[in-house]
Amino acid sequence: MSAFILFVGVSVAVFIIIRKMVSGARCKSKAKLHGKTVIVTGSNTGIGRETAVDLARRGARVILACRSQVRGEVAVAIVKRESRSSNVVFMQLDLASLKSVRTFAETFLKTEKRLDILINNAGIYMQGTTEDGLGLMFGVNHIGHFLLTNLLLDRLKECAPSRIVTVSSKLHESGNLDFSLLSAHKEFGTGDSFFDVLWIYSHSKLCNVLFTHELAKRLQGTNVTCYSLHPGVVNSDLVRHSRPVLRNIMKPIAAVFFKDVEAGAQTTLHCAVQEGIEGLSGQYFSNCAVNKVLPKARDDAVAKKLWEVSEKLCGLS
Ligand SMILES: NC(=O)c1ccc[n+]([C@@H]2O[C@H](COP(=O)([O-])OP(=O)(O)OC[C@H]3O[C@@H](n4cnc5c(N)ncnc54)[C@H](OP(=O)(O)O)[C@@H]3O)[C@@H](O)[C@H]2O)c1
Ligand SMILES: *[C@@H]1O[C@H](CO)[C@@H](O)[C@H](O)[C@H]1NC(C)=O
Repeated sequence: MSAFILFVGVSVAVFIIIRKMVSGARCKSKAKLHGKTVIVTGSNTGIGRETAVDLARRGARVILACRSQVRGEVAVAIVKRESRSSNVVFMQLDLASLKSVRTFAETFLKTEKRLDILINNAGIYMQGTTEDGLGLMFGVNHIGHFLLTNLLLDRLKECAPSRIVTVSSKLHESGNLDFSLLSAHKEFGTGDSFFDVLWIYSHSKLCNVLFTHELAKRLQGTNVTCYSLHPGVVNSDLVRHSRPVLRNIMKPIAAVFFKDVEAGAQTTLHCAVQEGIEGLSGQYFSNCAVNKVLPKARDDAVAKKLWEVSEKLCGLS
């Protein structure tokens, strides 16, 4: 009996220590955001919803930009309850449709006066095609956010100092951008195998880092700053479209060894509100600190090319 109690005690202690270790650094800023407006894309669940709760608690008006009206409205109720703020609204945005991105931006600019922080958080991990015939991961994770950011840029400039935060991933390190593949397939990779999907996702996350790199240059002197980041390995629902066998194997592992979504929101929050990081515009963060990226993730020529190709693909040039 006492051996059993000892076993349980040690197990609980080990679990608590592991959870403490995986949870990572926390956003230390106490910044309040009364009178400020924030957009969080993909905020009906996961890291995005936790980000929205924290920003609403700080007093911001928070726009949940989500593709599903039903899931978005449910999330509004949850965010309001958890933040004890009533200043939370849903606005429909499907990043897999350029038309939807344009409609969202028009509606937003017409009905809202300010934009202080734009958080490009939404992401998808599955193969497919967007309404406009782009690869789904390239289209949603990069192009949709590229167009959205550009359409909202003037408002961000008017409200400066303001920020643009784009949630990338450490997996961007295994990405690479083959522009000839892109012109042939409107995606930086092809195939449906486990590794194909992982790779295509990585390419899209490299786009997030290079987009932020180029954007920072274009924003010099405007007091609008931008950041990309890795949220950590987070126990969200991101892989909900992958095979059930894999998901079931991962579930118990994720519950112990992955960050929970609240911990996963900390680096996004750091980039969104931490005082004094304006000089680090264009950089990539992890665990609430700047991380040096590989040369391919700060290549000026590739970043510029990606920008120009992206402009063409969403009809901005
Ligand atoms: N989880 C991790 O370990 C991890 C690691 C590195 C980076 N990230 C990044 O973190 C970000 C948040 O992911 P998460 O882990 O919180 O995953 P999640 O729980 O799956 O949340 C993703 C969000 O994106 C939304 N979304 C997907 N496609 C969309 C579209 N076409 N238009 C608008 N919204 C769309 C989803 O909406 P629906 O509910 O309607 O599908 C959902 O709200 C993503 O950019 C992801 O790549 C996550
Ligand atoms: C940027 O902020 C600084 C410091 O507040 C201010 O002096 C400057 O005029 C601002 N520049 C623009 C373009 O708003």
